[in-house]
Amino acid sequence: MIQVANLWKSYDRLVAVREFDLEVESSQTVGLIGPNGSGKTTLLRMITTMAKPDRGSIHVCGHNALLDPRSVRRKVAFMPSEFGFPQDASIKEYMEFFACAAGVPRRERARTVEEVMELTDLKGREEVFIRGLSTGNKQRVLLAKTLLSDPEILILDEPSSGLDPRARSEVRALLKELASMGKTILISSHILADIEDICSHVCIIEQGRRITAGPIDELRKGFRSAHKIVHLKLNEADIDKAIGLLSHLEEVVECDREGCVVHLSSLQENSNFILRTLIEADIEILGMSEELPDLEDIFLETTKGVVS
Ligand SMILES: Nc1ncnc2c1ncn2[C@@H]1O[C@H](COP(=O)(O)OP(=O)(O)O)[C@@H](O)[C@H]1O
Ligand SMILES: [Mg+2]
Repeated sequence: MIQVANLWKSYDRLVAVREFDLEVESSQTVGLIGPNGSGKTTLLRMITTMAKPDRGSIHVCGHNALLDPRSVRRKVAFMPSEFGFPQDASIKEYMEFFACAAGVPRRERARTVEEVMELTDLKGREEVFIRGLSTGNKQRVLLAKTLLSDPEILILDEPSSGLDPRARSEVRALLKELASMGKTILISSHILADIEDICSHVCIIEQGRRITAGPIDELRKGFRSAHKIVHLKLNEADIDKAIGLLSHLEEVVECDREGCVVHLSSLQENSNFILRTLIEADIEILGMSEELPDLEDIFLETTKGVVS
């Protein structure tokens, strides 16, 4: 659906995006993550034909974004991170105006607006003025507006920034619903927990450069320096004995008595031997769970923390 190859963009002497490759397939949800100033907005603006690259190519649904931007705009809806709203419009007026701008035929306009408002939970609030809405609800209206043209691809620039936890979780739920409808979604964010929840894939960007990209699950597996962490639940009287036994094993890097946590030397390490060791020593195991690295661990390891 989206193919970006060797993309470059500079502002004067500052290179905002360099040597960038990106592939997004149909129905994928891809999170573009990177620190502030890493080039996320610049990249998304180029893909949505709002900015011109210096070099490289962009194809969206097979259309060349540089030669045929109109066809690309028909496939993609973009929700920018900064937006202005008219002060004196009700939600319905606003939606109808943009349904018209999005080219929805007059006959279908009322129904389209109604459907989108239903999907985004705005139904019943048609006459409410936008200026009085909370940031979360403004974001919801903006997302609703983005959906009016029934785009195949949704590109969202930091849709959760500035939202309180409840509004964030509502936006997240809505995006998950859109993903389940089969929309292709590219979403930039620096809120890693949101990306982890919504997206199947990530692309990490730093200083305009792609650092890594792929399915989140695979990045987790390839996460070299990660230890597998195993939490054990034992009877208090057994803990010292268990830690003593486990800490001598080759696969074990570290044991914390506090909370009874065992760090294994790699993610691939099978933790059955822990069970075996404890059972052989006649130690009762009340519970055991494994902890996987989250996106934040991967992000911290792959990026250098440089902000341009
Ligand atoms: N219109 C512009 N003119 C000059 N510099 C810009 C412009 N837009 C972005 N930049 C610079 O390009 C870099 C990348 O910015 P941006 O794409 O907005 O990053 P992000 O969205 O990841 O925060 C930053 O250093 C920013 O200051
Ligand atoms: Mg940005």
